[in-house]
Amino acid sequence: MIRLQHIVFAVGLVLSVGADYDPNWDSLDSRPLPQWYDDAKVGIFIHWGVFSVPSFGSEWFWEYWQGQKLPQFVSFMEQNYRPGFTYADFAAQFTAEFYDPDQWADIFKAAGARYIVLTTKHHEGFTNWPSNHSWNWNSMDLGPKRDLVGDLAAAIRSKAPDVHFGLYHSLFEWFNPIYNQDKDNNFKTSDFVTGKTMPELYELVNNYEPEVIWSDGDAGPDWYWNSTVFLAWLFNESPVKETVVVNDRWGDGISCHHGSYYTCADRYSPGVLQPHKWENCFTLDKASWGYRRNAPAGDYLTIHDVLTQLASTVSCGGNVLINVGPTHDGMIPPIMEERLRQLGSWLDVNGAGIYGSRPWKVQNDTVTHGIWYTANHDLTYAIVLQWPKHNTLTLGSVKPSDQTTIKMLGFDGELKFTPLTQGMNVTFPDLSSVTSEWAWVLEMAGVTPS
Ligand SMILES: *[C@@H]1O[C@H](CO)[C@@H](O)[C@H](O)[C@H]1NC(C)=O
Ligand SMILES: *[C@@H]1O[C@H](CO)[C@@H](O)[C@H](O)[C@H]1NC(C)=O
Ligand SMILES: *[C@@H]1O[C@H](CO)[C@@H](O)[C@H](O)[C@H]1NC(C)=O
Repeated sequence: MIRLQHIVFAVGLVLSVGADYDPNWDSLDSRPLPQWYDDAKVGIFIHWGVFSVPSFGSEWFWEYWQGQKLPQFVSFMEQNYRPGFTYADFAAQFTAEFYDPDQWADIFKAAGARYIVLTTKHHEGFTNWPSNHSWNWNSMDLGPKRDLVGDLAAAIRSKAPDVHFGLYHSLFEWFNPIYNQDKDNNFKTSDFVTGKTMPELYELVNNYEPEVIWSDGDAGPDWYWNSTVFLAWLFNESPVKETVVVNDRWGDGISCHHGSYYTCADRYSPGVLQPHKWENCFTLDKASWGYRRNAPAGDYLTIHDVLTQLASTVSCGGNVLINVGPTHDGMIPPIMEERLRQLGSWLDVNGAGIYGSRPWKVQNDTVTHGIWYTANHDLTYAIVLQWPKHNTLTLGSVKPSDQTTIKMLGFDGELKFTPLTQGMNVTFPDLSSVTSEWAWVLEMAGVTPS
């Protein structure tokens, strides 16, 4: 006999499976994070736009030159461009003649990335796709004369099908008079949101089916941006409702509090375990997201810097989103390509400690600086960023047992260990047979936190 409460229970179960999210943060935040994102760990961010033409100082070039009028930017224009040259004039030189999306897809795949996020429109307002809502200020009417977004989407899906395709979009635009009018009205009017921002976002999702939406430029309250209405549609009805993830920049005060995952601040890297899924987005060029012709080699992260960010981020429950800035002609600069390929070659050997991992009970070692832990099922991984003196490494946080085995990824054979009162010493093998020179990963079975 089936009792009434069983039927009620069964109906409730069905309803919660086909969940319908309401346009408020409590409801939207109750959506489980699609697992692919937590497993992915490594993404690549691509900042490309008209700012890639001056490629001087920052992707904030227009704002620094004509908004804040910073002397460095004003004099750069005075010295190098004719009087009366406008920011819009740069668009003609956004030529993208070497843009080969298949080649980009190969590089991202070789980097070991599991997702990418491309700027579709930065704060300058120029759309990298032929938007019906950006008349004469888009990549089909000007510059490349191409659908930059659509061409990369197609290349990723055919050449790198394991890489999830994501898109960045700026809600606001520095100099858009309609936005500025709404702002001057204390956001009591919303002509910019209804006529520009929202139509663009729906157009992007319906045309390109991104699995990440990386929102930015959220200057204004979330009710002004109508963010929750868009997100409820995205999670309930959109073509990507099952797999899409979104970040947290959807209006004043929302970042670090709501969204599938938190970015909090650019280059957010807290160094301690976080209670909510998060992402550390950082740039290979330390000073800029867009390409900078005036960046010397020393301004780029080394591969060791990149692996340091990767290790601490993944240990603390985050993903890394590593930014490259292509040139106006469509190249990923060789120094950036080299970093990405170095990362991929490291991940080829050491990926078991990264992809699909979860935080361990301890994040970094209590004794030895520069050791970060992850876990994957019954295995514990120690990512070692500094080679120990005398080839003996003290792991203060790991307690061995009778069952303990320790391997170094990329090296055949077991490592020897000696228990200590607190932790253990591990003796490394002969280095000549170890593949990596930048950071090493120990795979340990049968250990517990000490
Ligand atoms: C723009 O509108 C036309 C006509 O409705 C449509 O065919 C086209 O796909 C739209 N473009 C985008 C990017 O949605
Ligand atoms: C928000 O979206 C809803 C549903 O599409 C719409 O009715 C409303 O006008 C929008 N509000 C603003 C301020 O754009
Ligand atoms: C572990 O990480 C924390 C936070 O980043 C740091 O303060 C601490 O010094 C680290 N411990 C060691 C032994 O490096």
